[in-house]
Amino acid sequence: MRIHGRINGLLACAVALLLTASGGNSAPIGDAELRDSGKDQSNWLMYGRTYEDHRFSPLKQISEKSIGKLGLAWSRELTTTRGLEATPLVQDGILYTTSAWSVVHAMDAKTGKTLWTYDPRVPRARAYFICCDVVNRGVALYGGKVYVGTLDGRLIALNQRTGSPVWDVSTADSDKPYAITGAPRIARGMVVIGNAGAEYGVRGYISAYDAETGKMAWRFYTVPGDPSKGFESKAMADAAKTWKGEWWKVGGGGTAWEGIVYDPSLDLLYFGTGNPTAWYRDLRGGNSDNLYTASILAVRARTGELAWHFQTTPGDNWDFDSTQPLVQADLFIGGRPRMVIMQANKNGFFYVLDRATGEFLSGKAFVSGITWAKGLDPKTGRPIEEPDASKPAIISPAPDGAHNWNPMAFSPESGLVYFPAKIGTQSLHVPDTNWKYNPDKSNLGRAPGYEGPLAAKLKIMPPPTGELLAWNPVTQRAAWRAKYPVAVGGGVLATAGNLVFQGRADGILAAYRATDGKQMWSFDAKTGIMAPPVTYQIDGVQYVSVLAGWGGPDGLGNDPSWGPTKPGFGRILTFVLGGKTPFNPPAFGHKFPPPMPALTVDSNSQLVRQGELLFGDHCAGCHGANAIAGPLPDLRYSSKATLEGIQGIVLGGTRAAMGMPSFAKILNPGQVRAIQAYIVWRARAGAMAATVKKP
Ligand code: HEC
Repeated sequence: MRIHGRINGLLACAVALLLTASGGNSAPIGDAELRDSGKDQSNWLMYGRTYEDHRFSPLKQISEKSIGKLGLAWSRELTTTRGLEATPLVQDGILYTTSAWSVVHAMDAKTGKTLWTYDPRVPRARAYFICCDVVNRGVALYGGKVYVGTLDGRLIALNQRTGSPVWDVSTADSDKPYAITGAPRIARGMVVIGNAGAEYGVRGYISAYDAETGKMAWRFYTVPGDPSKGFESKAMADAAKTWKGEWWKVGGGGTAWEGIVYDPSLDLLYFGTGNPTAWYRDLRGGNSDNLYTASILAVRARTGELAWHFQTTPGDNWDFDSTQPLVQADLFIGGRPRMVIMQANKNGFFYVLDRATGEFLSGKAFVSGITWAKGLDPKTGRPIEEPDASKPAIISPAPDGAHNWNPMAFSPESGLVYFPAKIGTQSLHVPDTNWKYNPDKSNLGRAPGYEGPLAAKLKIMPPPTGELLAWNPVTQRAAWRAKYPVAVGGGVLATAGNLVFQGRADGILAAYRATDGKQMWSFDAKTGIMAPPVTYQIDGVQYVSVLAGWGGPDGLGNDPSWGPTKPGFGRILTFVLGGKTPFNPPAFGHKFPPPMPALTVDSNSQLVRQGELLFGDHCAGCHGANAIAGPLPDLRYSSKATLEGIQGIVLGGTRAAMGMPSFAKILNPGQVRAIQAYIVWRARAGAMAATVKKP
C-alpha cells in the first residue's frame, strides 16, 4: 500500500473547501442504493447504471416526441487528444468521470464547472506496455469514496467530496506489463478490479479489495501458474490440463479487462477473460482449450471461488477476447422464466447463458461473413470451427471484433439489446514460426508483414461497415439495424423515452427510436465518439452527457472511413431540452496533406520495406496504420529537425516523459534508420498524392 504525499492531499482539500458551496454533500452510496439504482431516476450511480448493466434509464422527459428540442447545455475540453472511453457517474448533480491517463474529474453536472481533479501521475513510459491507447473507462462510487484503477496497475480510493486519496494499493507486480483500463465495480462492500496485458505476456486475474481499507479480500487467477509451485485451487489444476508446453513462463494471458457484473441475489460475480498469449494456438503447443481464456466466468463474490465457466472460443487463435460487456436479464425462454447473462462476443456470436448455472441456452451469429466457425453446437455452445481456420487465413471477424468493449444497452420495455456491430472486418492470421517470448515487447506472435496471395487478396476486400444493432435475445434475431457511414460505433444508452443514443467514429451523436431504429436526432461533436452516453436528472430536468474523444483500439487507424484530420481535444458534452449553447471547438489536426519532406534520407526500396515492417510492429499502434495518425503525432508532418533527431527520440527516450517510449531494448540504430526512411517515403507519397489530385 502507498499513501500519497501530504501536500497533495492538503492542496486537494483546499480546492474542495472553496467549492463545497456548489459541490454539496451527497450521502454516501451503500449497498441498498446500488441494489435499487434502477429505481433511482435522477442518478447514474454505477458503470452500467444497475447491477444488471442495462444502461436503461426510466427518464422520459427527452422522448421520441420532444427530442427535436434537444440541444447543447454545456461542453468542456478535457485537455487531452487521447481516446476517451469512460462512463460518467452522476450523484446529486455532481458528475464523476475519468479521462486519458486515468485522471479523475468531478464537476457540476449542470454547468461543467470543475469541483476537483485528481491526477494519479502515471509514469508516461508505461504507454509502451499498453496495447490500445492510454484510456480509462470510469470510476466507481461507494461509501463516500470514488474508486479508480490506473494504467500503472494501482487501485485508488478518493474522498468523494474533496478528491484527496484515502488509500492507494498496487494490484499488480509493477515489473510486469499489467495495466488497468477498466472501471472498478462494487460487490458486497468490496471493490473488484481486473487488468490488461495479455498482448505482452502476463497471468490474468481479478481481485477484490475491502472498499473501506483497501485490503485485498481475494484474487482469482484466470489461467494456471507454474505447476511446480502447486495450484491455488482445483479450478487451476483443472485448467492446467488444458495447456501444453511451458505456458506459465509467458504468463498465459486471459486478462479480465472489461465486462464485470454482479448479481446480489445469487451472490455471483461474472466477468469475461481475454485472449491467451501468444495469439496463435500453434505457438502454444497446438490444439488445446487453454482454460479459462476467452471465457465467461462466474465466481462466488464472498470467496472468489469459481462457480462455473463457459468458454466462448476454446484454444483461441484469433484474439477473440470474451471481455465484452455482460448484461443480466430475466427472460421468458422456451415458455419459462430464465435468469440469463448475455454477451455480443468479439467472435461474432451472441450468447445467452443461464446465469445461475452457466448452462448454454442459445447462441447465434449477429454478423454475416464469419469465416472461422460454421456455427455453434446447439447443445454445448462450442464453436464448430472451419477446418482451415487455424492455418494462415483471412479471418472474419478481425481481432478488433464484431463487437468490442463498447457498452451495450438492454431495454426491459422493448425487450431488445442494442450494441454497435462491425460487419466484414477481415484480417490475415499468420503465426510467426520463429516467435520467441520476449518480455521487452508485445508477444502476439504474428508474422511481420506476411507476403503472399492471401495478403494481396486481403488488400482488395471491401472495407467493413458499422451499424447499431437491435437484437432480440429470446428469438436470437435482429429487430432492426441502423447502418452508419463509418465502421466504428460507440457505446449505447437506452431510455424510457423510446430512444437509443449512440455516438460514432465520425463524431455524430445520434438518437434512434428504440422500437424501429428510425433516426430522430443528431449532433456533430467534431471528434470521434467511442464512449457511451448517460442520462440523469437535476431539479426535475433531464440531461444527457457523453465523452467525445477519438483513440483507443478504435482509433488505431483501422477505420478506413476516417480521415486523419478530425480528432481533436477530448471533451465532455451535455444536452438538455431547449439547450442552445454555441459549439465551435477549435480546429484540430492538419488541414493540408503532408508537405514534401525536406529531409532526404539514404533510402532504397529494401530499406523502406524493412522500415514498413518495423513500423507496423512497433509504431503503428500509436502513430497509426500506414503512418497516418489520429490522436497522436502524424509523423509524416514531423519537422526536418525532428526526423533528423529520430534516433534520440526512439532509442534515447528523449520524449519518454510525454508518452513516447524508448525502444532501446528492442531496436538498433540501423532499424531506426529504416523506419526513418519509411516515414519519409510515406510523407513523400502523401505529398505527391496531393499534387496528383489537384485539378
Ligand atoms: C505508446 C505509444 C507510442 C508508440 C508505440 C510510439 N510512439 Fe512515437 N510518440 C508517442 C507520443 C505520445 C508522442 C508525442 C510526444 C510529445 O508530446 O512530444 C510521440 C512522438 C514521436 C515523434 C516526434 C514527432 C514530432 O513531430 O514531434 C517521433 C519521431 C516518434 N514518436 C517516432 C516513433 C517511432 C519511430 C515509433 C516506433 C518505433 C514510435 N514513435 C512509437 C507515442 C508513441
